[in-house]
Amino acid sequence: MKTILMVVAAVGIMTSGLGYAQSGADVAKAKGCLNCHEMDKKKVGPAIKDIAAKHKGDKSAEGTLAAKLKEGKGHPKSAASDAELKAALQYMLTAK
Ligand code: HEC
Repeated sequence: MKTILMVVAAVGIMTSGLGYAQSGADVAKAKGCLNCHEMDKKKVGPAIKDIAAKHKGDKSAEGTLAAKLKEGKGHPKSAASDAELKAALQYMLTAK
């Protein structure tokens, strides 16, 4: 009985973890990024597609942008955690 409960719990943690990792768009929404960034057009900040185009091919973009957002240097400071920023940035940088 105990083992069954543990398996159920482990599967629950795994699936919620997966869901989290895949939902960069949800993170961007939940953390307010989409209040200032829209997919196709400039709002307060540049369009998500323009951000993706600007940093295309730059493998270090995710790291530099995460640092920029975290410290609020040249960008409104973000309250998102590292993992959330990573997910949101991946979503933005891979937008087409
Ligand atoms: C209060 C408005 C606002 C919010 C909220 C906001 N941004 Fe921005 N963002 C801007 C503005 C303005 C710029 C343009 C200035 C700049 O490049 O830093 C920008 C630029 C960016 C850029 C491009 C930076 C570059 O150097 O090319 C990225 C990436 C970005 N934002 C990601 C995010 C993410 C991820 C979130 C949510 C955690 C977010 N933004 C929330 C206003 C906002």
